[in-house]
Amino acid sequence: MKRLSLSLVLFMLFPFFAKAGEGMWIPMLLQYNEKEMQEMGMRITAEDIYSINHSSLKDAIVLFGGGCTGEIVSDYGLLLTNHHCGYDYIQRHSSVEHDYLTNGFWAMNRGEELPCPGLSVIFLREMRDVTDQVLADITIDMPEDERQAKVDEHIKAIIADVEKETNYKVSIKPYFLGNEYYLLLNEVYTDVRLVGCPPSNIGKFGGDTDNWVWPRHTGDFSIFRVYADKDGHPAVYSEDNVPYKPAKHLDISLKGAEEGDFAFVFGYPARTNEYLPSVAVDQEANLIDPITVDLRGKVLDIYNKYQEQDPKVRIQYASKHASIGNGWKKWMGVTEGINHFHGVEKKEAYEHEFFDWAMQSRSRYMYVNLMKDFKKNYEELEPYELAYTYMAEAGMRIEIVNFAGRFVKLSEVTKDTPQDEIDMMITNLKASAEKFYKDYYEPIDREVAAMLLSEYLKAQPADFRPAFLNDIKDVNDYVGKMFDKSMFTDQAKVNTLLDNFKVNNAKKLANDPALLVYQSLIGFYREKVYDHIKALTEDNARLQRIYMKGQMEMQPEKRFSPDANFTLRVTYGKVEGFRPKDGMKYNHFTTLEGIMQKENPDIYDYVVEPRLKQLYNTKDYGRYADKDGTMHVAFTASVHTTGGNSGSPILNADGQLLGLNFDRCWEGTMSDLIYDPDICRNISVDIRYVLFIIDKFAGAGHLINEMTIVE
Ligand code: ARG
Ligand code: GLU
Repeated sequence: MKRLSLSLVLFMLFPFFAKAGEGMWIPMLLQYNEKEMQEMGMRITAEDIYSINHSSLKDAIVLFGGGCTGEIVSDYGLLLTNHHCGYDYIQRHSSVEHDYLTNGFWAMNRGEELPCPGLSVIFLREMRDVTDQVLADITIDMPEDERQAKVDEHIKAIIADVEKETNYKVSIKPYFLGNEYYLLLNEVYTDVRLVGCPPSNIGKFGGDTDNWVWPRHTGDFSIFRVYADKDGHPAVYSEDNVPYKPAKHLDISLKGAEEGDFAFVFGYPARTNEYLPSVAVDQEANLIDPITVDLRGKVLDIYNKYQEQDPKVRIQYASKHASIGNGWKKWMGVTEGINHFHGVEKKEAYEHEFFDWAMQSRSRYMYVNLMKDFKKNYEELEPYELAYTYMAEAGMRIEIVNFAGRFVKLSEVTKDTPQDEIDMMITNLKASAEKFYKDYYEPIDREVAAMLLSEYLKAQPADFRPAFLNDIKDVNDYVGKMFDKSMFTDQAKVNTLLDNFKVNNAKKLANDPALLVYQSLIGFYREKVYDHIKALTEDNARLQRIYMKGQMEMQPEKRFSPDANFTLRVTYGKVEGFRPKDGMKYNHFTTLEGIMQKENPDIYDYVVEPRLKQLYNTKDYGRYADKDGTMHVAFTASVHTTGGNSGSPILNADGQLLGLNFDRCWEGTMSDLIYDPDICRNISVDIRYVLFIIDKFAGAGHLINEMTIVE
């Protein structure tokens, strides 16, 4: 442990008492937060946010498309979410003739709205605490498999019971790492239609360059509508369906927010790990994340080089770049943040305190060895985690290797394989190939492969790595041969194989060098890695559950908030900027001025739409301007959010919509492991910018007329 200043040591003794801003709270228990929320400025009640006795804000919130949040803003099922959340569906409706991604899309009447097969939204109707029933007859000393079997059995029985009294979808999820269980009654709507989205120059303005970064100027929103049958119940798509009438829709405030104003986010955060031991945080932030960041950074450098040379390649690799780059930037921020904030040392100090507490009473015997056991498990886990990381981030990142993996089954067919099974495989592979080659550029993949395999060889010990690596004498030579000999670099060869496939082609396919590399990677993982990771992760889950219980016993006065688990949560804080570094202060909002400052017609991410420029030049902002006369675009707040909160409403003291959450500042992305209200900030698009784009830019004022606007 590094030497720390006295003030830091003193602070460390009480580091994890919830600070305002920290915590993802369970809506049905919000009455316990009400006082603090009201002291921070909230003018509504916990009942106004979550109630099962009358309509409340929760009736307007949905899990959108299984990965984001959306909110209903009219009595006709109109829904807002992020542009990047609706992206897939916008893309599916886009073609060269109707390029909605580039140009945006606006349904000028309900008849023009576009159905989105596969898209669903989920409303939470009610939640119940079922901890006592799920954990009935379970003791702390019970062997883990026996415990799990009992938990599963209880969960099944409770669900079966509740299903008798309801048509809702019933599920039970663990909270506090398995110390509590809540039952969720959900309603799933599957007729959801695309209503509108801005051009990508607005919805994705700043692109990957600005991703995770403040100051931000992205109009990250898209609009959908939920349809139901005539009685308001979920129904599969039909022309006879009608707009869904919610029990509650969100009112929209045009007043904006001042620095220091109370704000809360209501949505579906996916996953946080606030209660990990120091060894786990250290391993993630200082070992695994930096390797991933390094490998991805090198891949992105190669992508960039080719993307800059050729506009076609830029488009082909845009989406791959976005997804690799998203994690790359985020994890860079996690490592920086954890170290800057002395996260590992603070956790260590807390663990000492926990140990001392455990030693004070015999009844706390089960907590005494926790840290030792964690340490042992994480040490044992390390080589396996590394093996997994290199397999996923180096081996599988080679595109032809990854793609060849889809042909494994076909390479294993025999005379006895039923023909219809083979036909099915061929049909699916043809579709995959079509998609794969549309965005494949061999020179990139060759260069990436040579770079990644050298890194892989350097980093992983000869006696613990996939066999193919040990055959490599000269990486460039190996990669050259693999790419020259593999059929997977050549769409025509793959098509010929698929068009004329016979069982006796299987052997040749199985010997394709890219497929052999894939098999070597998977074989190594299956034989040498998987079982260890599984066993150790399961044991860590057990330790984590006990550690959580211990912490709650040690601090009975503290309100703990359970880690995010993709269920509905309320988080709250203040609208505020922050100081990322000594001598620097970030303002809490950005304006249209900033878009004009960033404008660069030669850089794709910074092209400004002529129509937007015209509105800017004439200052035609209407009632959407801030009282300072400018058009506010985005703002930051100290509200604890994570992935899945994209599209979540950020609301003011009266529960009115201020904006849509869409990102965090990368300096604070460690908030998934440790939240610090001084530097963790979420980023939202100002609802007034959203309405301005809908109304003034797109001329879709009919949509605004459906909404309830509070001036
Ligand atoms: N960083 C945000 C998130 O984690 C936005 C990602 C999409 N935007 C992008 N430029 N890649 O999902
Ligand atoms: N962009 C993220 C999402 O898609 C939200 C940002 C975050 O991770 O906080 O959910």
